[in-house]
Amino acid sequence: MERLQKVIAHAGLASRRKAEELILEGKVTVNGKVVRELGVKVSGNDRVEVAGVPVEKEEPVYFILYKPRGVISSAIDDKGRKTVTDFFPQIKERIYPVGRLDYDTSGILIMTNDGDFANLLMHPSNQVEKTYVAKVKGIPLREKLKSLEKGIMLEDGKTAPAKVKFMSLDKKKETSIIELTIHEGKNLQVRRMFEAIGHPVLKLKRETYAFLDLKGLKTGDARELSPHEVKQLRSLAKFGK
Ligand code: URA
Repeated sequence: MERLQKVIAHAGLASRRKAEELILEGKVTVNGKVVRELGVKVSGNDRVEVAGVPVEKEEPVYFILYKPRGVISSAIDDKGRKTVTDFFPQIKERIYPVGRLDYDTSGILIMTNDGDFANLLMHPSNQVEKTYVAKVKGIPLREKLKSLEKGIMLEDGKTAPAKVKFMSLDKKKETSIIELTIHEGKNLQVRRMFEAIGHPVLKLKRETYAFLDLKGLKTGDARELSPHEVKQLRSLAKFGK
């Protein structure tokens, strides 16, 4: 048995919040009767309809996208900008990103229509490691990078210990390339961490998400995850290995 709003959301008809609204508005019927309460649970044998349209469960699908810069990480954008779902014109399922990469950040992003999987990966206690490559202004001193490694105070708390690798520098342009591996997902975390040590990010790319990388993908490309990769991600999020 599952909650009615969850069944509607899983069918890709609406987000869970929107599904709740539809129920409260009296647009949802179960076995022909209008249901206006949010607590109701239904089974696979119940006939659910939204505004007269039968609800059928979507098969779960899982992808990685090499998100380009200048793209919004949400299913729709009210300002009409390009979104990550625009890269999946052939996919009929209602997929959305697991977490976010900000507008100017490129790199690896998981997309799915499986809400439980997305919630599992996004839960603060289950966060997997992600590696970012940042081009930053200036040439950070060793101690500053050490402070990123240990954890640095941001306005919403101290960051957890991170891995930091100095990759290269451009003396003429006074910029450096630094690899940063974190497992948290605070809003704009990487940009804010570098900002906090006085070396703002000029360019940012997420290279890995757990064991997944961008090998074989060009910017804007996507590929389906294998059932084994999905299983591995679930297990990593749940048990940390
Ligand atoms: N940290 C950022 O600053 N931006 C992202 O997109 C992801 C992590």
